[in-house]
Amino acid sequence: MKGLILSGGAGTRLRPITHTSAKQLVPVANKPVLFYGLEALRAAGIVDVGIVVGETHAEIEAAVGDGARFGLRVTYIPQEAPLGLAHAVLISEPYLGDSPFVMYLGDNLLKEGVTRFVERFAESGPDALILLQQVTDPSSYGIAELDPDGRVARLVEKPKEPRSDLALVGVYLFTPAVFESVKTISPSSRNELEITDAIQHMIDRGLRVESHRVTGWWKDTGKLEDMLEANRLILGTIESDVRGELHQTTIEGAVSIGADSVLERCTVRGPAVIGERCVLRDTFIGPYTAISDGVTIEEAEIEHSIVLANSRISRLGARMTDSLIGRDCVIARSDGRPVAYRFMVGDSSQIGIL
Ligand code: G1P
Repeated sequence: MKGLILSGGAGTRLRPITHTSAKQLVPVANKPVLFYGLEALRAAGIVDVGIVVGETHAEIEAAVGDGARFGLRVTYIPQEAPLGLAHAVLISEPYLGDSPFVMYLGDNLLKEGVTRFVERFAESGPDALILLQQVTDPSSYGIAELDPDGRVARLVEKPKEPRSDLALVGVYLFTPAVFESVKTISPSSRNELEITDAIQHMIDRGLRVESHRVTGWWKDTGKLEDMLEANRLILGTIESDVRGELHQTTIEGAVSIGADSVLERCTVRGPAVIGERCVLRDTFIGPYTAISDGVTIEEAEIEHSIVLANSRISRLGARMTDSLIGRDCVIARSDGRPVAYRFMVGDSSQIGIL
């Protein structure tokens, strides 16, 4: 069995972060989302993985390399434009050949990994196995309608009037029978070849499409709230591991602090993770916070937030919460006159003030 990870896409719902970074490389608990997917495939015994890349290919390739450090053999498959998930399958046929495969959307996170689904696929031998989970906002996902016997009857991509709340999770298992379907379907109204339509086409051809309910948590990290929730879910599983230097600092709960970080007169209430080479002074870090490498924080209180590498935050005046701060950002009190907010903010940024 091979793996196919989709790591193209523009990440419009995570701008401005995705103006300069691939959405799959935004870290959750200080590890790029994509790495969780690669590790899940490896844990399921998969070694050969194709990664479909778009505009951000250079950055993805720099982060993943040949895959050796994950125990994988990675092949990059360039997609000339984000023309849909089924288009990604279509262009991957030469790589996948006659091997069955797991397709994994590079911005998805699943607590239970994929091992169980790979085993079930091998045992039961369907043409496709899809994973489903109940959601509260079905019009944001591909949705499955089941018949009274629990068989997949109909699949609709982001229906305006959903007839079910069972969303398609971004992990799919296929035999090469999927290729005929991705070649036959037409682009959707958003001008993409939808994997949802391809699977519907498989059902219409009388092929066996099985579904499996995902019981553990699942997150599509396409939006800020989802990133923060994924961060919360992963941080909820970490163990304490303090390598940095602490002076007059209190640590409560599960906290990981990387090498060469220095904390002075701080309180860190976990679960929280602080990377390497960070400097924190007179600061409170609250639960569900992930601070990347090289960050400086002074006289600030931060909780339930993600701060990316090499940013500097000082003297905030109020607690910062529910935030995602990009790389190399500066948020600091300015003492000059007039007393005013001073911003230099990228396109599509969002700022909530007191
Ligand atoms: C894609 C699929 C959708 C699926 C979702 C899961 O949506 O088109 O069917 O439910 O991934 O993450 P997108 O994230 O491209 O909007």
